[in-house]
Amino acid sequence: MNTIEKTVINTSLSEKINALRKERNAVILAHYYQEPAIQDIADYVGDSLELARWAATTNADVIVFAGVLFMAETAKILNPTKTVLLPDMKAGCSLSDSCPPTEFRAFLDAHPNHIVISYINCSIEIKAMSDIICTSSNAEQIINSIPKEQPIIFAPDKNLGAYLADKTGRDLVLWEGACMVHEAFSIDKLLDLHKEFPNADIIAHPESEAHVLKTASFIGSTAAMIRYVNDSPNDQFIVATEAGILHRMKQDVLHKTLIPAPSVADNTCACSECGYMKMNTMQKLYLCLKNNKPEIILDEEMRKRALIPMLRCLDYKPKP
Ligand code: 13P
Ligand code: SF4
Repeated sequence: MNTIEKTVINTSLSEKINALRKERNAVILAHYYQEPAIQDIADYVGDSLELARWAATTNADVIVFAGVLFMAETAKILNPTKTVLLPDMKAGCSLSDSCPPTEFRAFLDAHPNHIVISYINCSIEIKAMSDIICTSSNAEQIINSIPKEQPIIFAPDKNLGAYLADKTGRDLVLWEGACMVHEAFSIDKLLDLHKEFPNADIIAHPESEAHVLKTASFIGSTAAMIRYVNDSPNDQFIVATEAGILHRMKQDVLHKTLIPAPSVADNTCACSECGYMKMNTMQKLYLCLKNNKPEIILDEEMRKRALIPMLRCLDYKPKP
């Protein structure tokens, strides 16, 4: 399908989605990694923490979550009386999958007396086993709020965990999980690219590996990266996170040059795109509103257990 055909189809789908959204009193929440047409039609586009906050406070009857499964589950944990729809139920997350509940239970049992802080990119089972959930926007503040003598387990992202251990000076016990998109950046290609654009700021999401983070002049959540590009006097940036962010990032800074950081296999695939995030399409968004499915249904006992650490997450304010 060429670009013109795609635009015509998306325009007609947009009209249908808008009519259904009104009829069903639905709100569409989209993550920055969603395809541009979905970001454009969404009521709110944000990072994980912003989306969780909107999901917790919306008056809509239906929440359509244009993101991945752990995000839609989080919306349902926070708002159990709403219908929460995920356009494609197979939209999972490699990081969440890297922390299976049975193994994690054994890991916790092997580390008694530790507080368990889990990154929001995990399943409801992992959330239910955690004391506090964090996102990349508030993880540092949450760790800093824990008394120094209290040992901490941080899960499931070892890269974010190592970054936070370094930032806070805490000796965190890390679960060895990772995101396949943020681990696919090539440090050699990144350094070559920086030689071509020596004045560009490298900015990176903290799910990236330590050697990538070491090159970055700014590290932050997706929302923080967008703010940084807006506020910086610089006009060239190499952006090390999922490439979907560039759509929103460039809207306020059309005059600035934004270059996606190269992945190891960029010649053969779009590795800096998250295949899970990209499973959602305008067609699936329309169909889920029309058919009222796929719907997130949670075990109520599990939901109640996961709610406690999730509410602690929302108590912490993101960095200004
Ligand atoms: P944030 O939007 O919180 O920065 O997280 C990025 C991410 O990996 C979502 O899957
Ligand atoms: Fe999961 Fe990584 Fe995709 Fe985010 S980008 S949803 S962490 S696989």
